[in-house]
Amino acid sequence: MLIQLADINRLYRSDEVETTALHDVHLTIERGEFVAIMGPSGCGKSTLLNILGTIDRPSSGSYRFGDHELSTMAEAELAQFRRSHLGYIFQSFNLIDELTIEENVELALIYRKMPRAERRARVAAAMDRVSIGHRARHYPSQLSGGQQQRAAIARAIVGEPDLILADEPTGNLDTENGMQVMDILQTLNREGATIVMVTHSPSHADMARRRVDMLDGQIVISVRNAI
Ligand SMILES: Nc1ncnc2c1ncn2[C@@H]1O[C@H](COP(=O)(O)OP(=O)(O)O)[C@@H](O)[C@H]1O
Ligand SMILES: [Mg+2]
Repeated sequence: MLIQLADINRLYRSDEVETTALHDVHLTIERGEFVAIMGPSGCGKSTLLNILGTIDRPSSGSYRFGDHELSTMAEAELAQFRRSHLGYIFQSFNLIDELTIEENVELALIYRKMPRAERRARVAAAMDRVSIGHRARHYPSQLSGGQQQRAAIARAIVGEPDLILADEPTGNLDTENGMQVMDILQTLNREGATIVMVTHSPSHADMARRRVDMLDGQIVISVRNAI
């Protein structure tokens, strides 16, 4: 077992209102799984993904990742954990406009103690895996949405993370580019990557190995796909 969330709650409090974004969520993920999370807007999908990605912390509950308990880990240690174990893909790509594609991908490795030549070789290999190597010296604004998302995938995988998180990775793409991104995610999963993806597309959810449906901050269904 790679991941175990147990009794996870996430409350948002302001002066007048209290929102329960997640309510007693239990989720176990094995190494090598590809999980699609679906559900209506506001049901807690991004909150769940952000907690898995350690960008957010649960109000209560336990988050085990391998041998680590992440819900109580100190922030500095968590930042290090995040950089070496997790890769994140966002709906809006989130590349840095002032850096080239190559530099964006390389940034994910900058905190690792690694000789420059090895770092360069890893960056080139990651870009090749998503067929973006020919745009290495371009800036994000010079690329199509599909190319930018492929570059963002290269950034997510260059550190060989234990878990790839994707929040609506095809949400800003047309059908063809969306399918390319899904093909890449499926290939990465077949090669062993563990992936958790939020999507609004039933056909994209069908390309995952398991589908989890959420409603009002809870997981209501978890089914294995026949793929
Ligand atoms: N920073 C925040 N402050 C207050 N409420 C929030 C915040 N982020 C999310 N929420 C609330 O938590 C619930 C779940 O949000 P979210 O996880 O973004 O849903 P989804 O991704 O499924 O659309 C919603 O009711 C949302 O309004
Ligand atoms: Mg969301």
